[in-house]
Amino acid sequence: MKTKTLLIAAFAGFMGIALITSCGGGQQPAQEEAATQVEEKAGPTAEQLARGEQLYKEKCIACHQANGQGLPNVFPTLTGSDFLINQTKMAVAQVLNGSEKVPGHSQITYPAPMPPQVDNYEDAVAVINYVLNNFDNPGGYISVDDVKDITIDPR
Ligand code: HEC
Repeated sequence: MKTKTLLIAAFAGFMGIALITSCGGGQQPAQEEAATQVEEKAGPTAEQLARGEQLYKEKCIACHQANGQGLPNVFPTLTGSDFLINQTKMAVAQVLNGSEKVPGHSQITYPAPMPPQVDNYEDAVAVINYVLNNFDNPGGYISVDDVKDITIDPR
């Protein structure tokens, strides 16, 4: 009995040392973890794109049409839109608050502004990521963290 206990104690001690040693050289696992996190942040998930598609079909299609091309002089095309691709955060703000409420958005040349469409960051980002990655657009990604400082106007 005694020997067995001693053996267990010795084994536990050995594992303790092994643990400390592996923690000492802990640079490697930490780096790997960081790399995984960056990869996860780099693009929309399949779930997010599916949610974006659902929202597009529910909310955007009436104006921007099924093919994203809008209607000439009434609703702009979403293909190759400079505003969408290069000012993506403002496009998210527009989906949240409507085009009249986007600070600095001065190119409104359409007969009526775009009304607010969604009321939370997750949906706004999902639908914008969907549009960025469809309708012959070049792709792209914006995260919820990127837009959390946009104030969502009360309705
Ligand atoms: C009631 C019609 C309407 C609906 C619904 C609508 N939009 Fe718009 N959208 C507009 C109009 C009008 C403009 C152009 C006016 C402006 O820029 O203020 C516009 C502009 C845009 C632009 C900027 C394009 C550019 O180059 O100026 C984006 C991006 C956009 N809409 C995305 C969306 C998304 C995503 C949805 C659905 C969540 C949506 N819109 C729903 C009418 C609409």
